[in-house]
Amino acid sequence: SRSIRLAVIPGDGIGPEVVSEGLKVLDAVASSGDLTFERTSYDLGAARWHRTGETLPDSVLEELRGQAVILLGAVGDPGVPSGTLERGLLLRARFELDHYVNLRPVRLYPGVATPLAGVTPEDIDMVVVREGTEGPYTGVGGVLRKDTPHEVATQESVNTAYGVERVIRYAFEVAASRPRRKLTLVHKDNVLTFAGDLYQRALKRVAAEFPQVTTDYCHVDAATMFFVSQPRRFDVIVTDNLFGDIITDLGAAVAGGIGLAASGNVNPGRTAPSMFEPVHGSAPDIAGQGKADPTATILSVAMLLDHVGAADAARRVERAVSDDLAERAALGARSTTQIGDAIAKRVSG
Ligand code: NAD
Ligand code: IPM
Ligand code: MN
Repeated sequence: SRSIRLAVIPGDGIGPEVVSEGLKVLDAVASSGDLTFERTSYDLGAARWHRTGETLPDSVLEELRGQAVILLGAVGDPGVPSGTLERGLLLRARFELDHYVNLRPVRLYPGVATPLAGVTPEDIDMVVVREGTEGPYTGVGGVLRKDTPHEVATQESVNTAYGVERVIRYAFEVAASRPRRKLTLVHKDNVLTFAGDLYQRALKRVAAEFPQVTTDYCHVDAATMFFVSQPRRFDVIVTDNLFGDIITDLGAAVAGGIGLAASGNVNPGRTAPSMFEPVHGSAPDIAGQGKADPTATILSVAMLLDHVGAADAARRVERAVSDDLAERAALGARSTTQIGDAIAKRVSG
């Protein structure tokens, strides 16, 4: 039996609620296979910040580096200044652990209601490869003349040839592994001419290594329209950090809701642990009420299993989710734990 060191960061709001269900399913799949997870839970988030002022201390970051993989719930709390935990904890982890690929599948499962008319699961099946360590997320910029009528806030988008090329190469690999073999660059090169052109040239360069992959380009504004009007246009998308953030919430909405959207912050070279988490946040509006859908976290656990080489276990979790989703419409409202129990049972059964 293989033992895998798993760090768990439940975080804030609904984070702990959905993470318990993710772990329940992980336990169910591990107990029937030859995998064991050696779990360490990290108390990070709003409570720790209130207690100590810490977000992600260096000592914890160093411990995380020694783990094989990380499962995170969500961070962010209305009682903490916006950005403190998001930047200090989540983005710090993504940057320090070099999660340059933020992998976000957008897939409509059979039986799941979509707000789009006349679409079938074949129409919505894409993977967004969102850049994870650059763009407007770097924190470069600042404020001048704060709190005056002449305040100036700049927030730079930083894009490097190295960073852009590596995420594009990863996206080509994903595209090459899928039946349609189509890669669309989503950007805004008609306005963000410096960064857009850097992405375009990298796309052309790397395309030469993947003659089997068709490439396409779409401005991000048009892409949001096509997500709704013609989602079939897209197979694999590669895009910058901020555009990827925005279009994947839209992707979640068209594919049945944010409660189903999974993601992985991947370090493909495995120089540090990758981190899996639902696309959604801490949902303070429903926290503590047992209303959160844990499916996104459970599907993130499936991605985690794939990442550690447990493809069979990953497929079992996905199948259990897909079977549960197929019957959901008939079942009425269920609590967070009821959904987790039902999926865990299918995994074991
Ligand atoms: P959110 O994703 O937390 O919530 C948006 C809406 O979706 C809310 O109405 C919420 O109730 C609903 N929702 C989210 N997850 C759900 C689930 N599993 N089941 C059912 N409904 C669900 O986004 P927000 O409201 O913009 O942000 C809330 C906080 O979360 C902020 O502090 C934000 O910074 C943070 N955030 C963190 C992450 C993360 O940790 N990766 C991601 C997004 C937002
Ligand atoms: C996400 C979130 C984060 C992001 C925030 C909380 C920093 O919205 O994971 O999608 O913008 O990446
Ligand atoms: Mn987001």
